[in-house]
Amino acid sequence: MSSQTTFEIEDKYMAPFFVKQKISIDRGEGVFVWDEDGNRYIDFTSGWGVTCIGHAQPVITQALVSQGQKMLQNPNSGLTYSPARAGLLSVLMKVLPSHLTHIFFSNSGAEANDAAIKLARKVTNRLDVISTHQSFHGRTISTASATGQASHREKFNPLMPNYRFVTYGKLDELEHALDESVAAFIIEPIQGEGGVHIPSEKYLKEAERLCSENGTLLIADEVQTGFCRTGPMFVSGAMGINVDFLTMAKGIAGGFPFGGFAMSEKVASALEIGDHGGTYCGNPLGCAVAHAVIKYLVDNDVSANVRHMETICMETMGVWQKRFPETIKEIRGKGLLLLIEFSDPDIAAKASDECLARHLFVRQTQGNGIRVFPALNIKEEELREGLAIMQSAIEAVADA
Ligand SMILES: Cc1ncc(COP(=O)(O)O)c(C=O)c1O
Repeated sequence: MSSQTTFEIEDKYMAPFFVKQKISIDRGEGVFVWDEDGNRYIDFTSGWGVTCIGHAQPVITQALVSQGQKMLQNPNSGLTYSPARAGLLSVLMKVLPSHLTHIFFSNSGAEANDAAIKLARKVTNRLDVISTHQSFHGRTISTASATGQASHREKFNPLMPNYRFVTYGKLDELEHALDESVAAFIIEPIQGEGGVHIPSEKYLKEAERLCSENGTLLIADEVQTGFCRTGPMFVSGAMGINVDFLTMAKGIAGGFPFGGFAMSEKVASALEIGDHGGTYCGNPLGCAVAHAVIKYLVDNDVSANVRHMETICMETMGVWQKRFPETIKEIRGKGLLLLIEFSDPDIAAKASDECLARHLFVRQTQGNGIRVFPALNIKEEELREGLAIMQSAIEAVADA
């Protein structure tokens, strides 16, 4: 097939939910991808924070093949045992905060959040959910209801009732909102889709205290921040915050659709048979891949690489900001979840287009931002190659 044929078929038959980039990706290796016409690109989006150890990663291919040759989906699904699932559970237990004692799997981040919200209602026997403005928790009806961005909500009203919002980072608002009707407070420890916002350490610690005092369960949505994206395996774990649920997806299986949620002993002990389930939850193929990804992250100390690459990015981007103070308002983020905030959305769009014209994928975020979130095992020379492209793209828009 040629790129042209692929464009025609997708444009004709795919539901029209995306503004498409006219590039048809055929294959990848590490941070590089090639289109159907053989052109090479650098991927600074890792498929939206997913391919955390690179495209066509051999340890993932090996896990897919060896598990694929044995068992994809158990007879009677989760009713039977699986060594692949047990293997993943053992390795996850070593990297999760130690107070989280039970895990269940999903196919996506939205599903994991959806389940955590549903189960929090059961455990507390309360209805209300508090979330934060600018948050993103998914696109199912209940996670869209928990998402604090008008663009994901307004066309679908009425959404689920009993969802309320507070300003991210504002403790007094949270304190005011919590009462005996609130089942859960769901929060990203660093907001990703909302524009890469980092709250103070005090905010998350106090949020934990306030929730605990009020009998509200704390759900940390680590779908984007988990698995070393910002350095540590999990942000809430590194901060020593005792959440009741920790939800995960994206990086967990490095590109294979998979997710899950971990719970404290207290929560798990209040749940019973039939409270949750799903056809694919914990399917052996996904488990084998996730196991291989987590093992790779740990064995290769990917967290240290993330910290090193963060320093290079921050230094380089800091120089751009000094050179173009009218164009770049702020550089922020943690680890390899970074954002350049431009003075207006038009400039961000142009800079993003200029990057793509130079064969670098970045992600325009919240209008005036460009998010940089490449594979976590990116090598220094690959990072510098991508940054040099970004620099020339910024020079083109700043000089225009
Ligand atoms: C913090 C967060 N939660 C949930 C989701 C939804 O995950 P998924 O797209 O796998 O359903 C996302 C996706 O971007 C996310 O960033």
